Amino acid sequence: MYRCLPAAKRSKKLRYIVSAVLTVWPLAPLSAQGGNTNPDPHDVRAGSEIFNSICTVCHGQEGNQVPGVDLAHGTFHFAKTDQDLIHIIRNGIPGSGMPANNMSEASAAAVVSYLHQMAADNADNTITNGNADHGRVLYQSLGCAKCHRIGEVGSRLGPDLTNIGNLRRSAILERKLLDPAKDIRPENRFVTVVTESGRTITGKLMNQDTFTVLLMDPSETLLSFNRADLKQVTIEDKSTIMPSYRDKLSNQDLSDLVTYLKQQKGAPVQ
Ligand code: HEC
Ligand code: HEC
Repeated sequence: MYRCLPAAKRSKKLRYIVSAVLTVWPLAPLSAQGGNTNPDPHDVRAGSEIFNSICTVCHGQEGNQVPGVDLAHGTFHFAKTDQDLIHIIRNGIPGSGMPANNMSEASAAAVVSYLHQMAADNADNTITNGNADHGRVLYQSLGCAKCHRIGEVGSRLGPDLTNIGNLRRSAILERKLLDPAKDIRPENRFVTVVTESGRTITGKLMNQDTFTVLLMDPSETLLSFNRADLKQVTIEDKSTIMPSYRDKLSNQDLSDLVTYLKQQKGAPVQ
């Protein structure tokens, strides 16, 4: 995957880039707090999608797979400012393994917002290397399987966690356990419908179109409704049936449970 140039030529190219980068752009210090201190949530989400689709192949999901570069902690060889990062993301580093990416300045800036968000998430990250065996015990005793599935065990009501270790960073998993209502992904939303007879049913939103709403109720039964027959349809994007575990877990427990979840890297069983 790496395109190798002779060392001398490579370092000359890199020097050229470093000097271009350092002389042209004004300094806005990059750190967890520095640079763009208040990234727009839309940028962060757009940036995370780009990051996950094209950067993780080499940098890994935590951004630390390239030696000497830790994207989630602001550790770089050359980049000093957000502008440096945008330049490097768009143009690559010729002669190194970092390719140019054909994207607009705005998209590259969104990726940089996401890098800031990763750094901010990691700054208050209590997770180190927890005890996954104890994490599994907690997963069972706290009743996660009443709503979730790992492999073939558990419920289909909540998201399948079989591959969650590949999909989410530790900091995101930790936040989900502490403040579940804060970060509900669109694909995981629930819906509440009120029927003509006044019955209220809440369940996982499986599908919807102009005419119908399909949901899965808590007993895992699929229910299909004609919109015309419903008094009300509310997509639940601010509340979730998942409880907060803030008062139920010590810091050590939290890191054990997150460590266990990070190890779930299987292919979901359909
Ligand atoms: C094909 C593999 C590959 C892909 C894809 C890739 N990178 Fe890199 N990236 C590298 C390598 C290798 C380096 C280290 C280059 C060096 O310092 O010699 C690097 C370095 C970097 C740096 C550090 C610059 C510095 O100052 O040290 C940043 C920032 C970066 N990449 C961001 C990204 C982003 C964001 C994406 C996705 C848009 C991305 N990379 C995609 C391989 C890749
Ligand atoms: C009463 C049901 C319920 C229980 C109990 C529950 N969850 Fe959840 N969980 C959900 C639902 C529903 C969602 C999807 C909506 C949301 O994001 O809140 C969810 C979302 C999640 C997510 C985010 C998935 C993603 O795609 O990012 C994780 C991780 C998670 N739960 C882990 C756990 C763990 C670990 C436990 C046990 C400590 C647990 N949950 C207990 C219902 C539950």
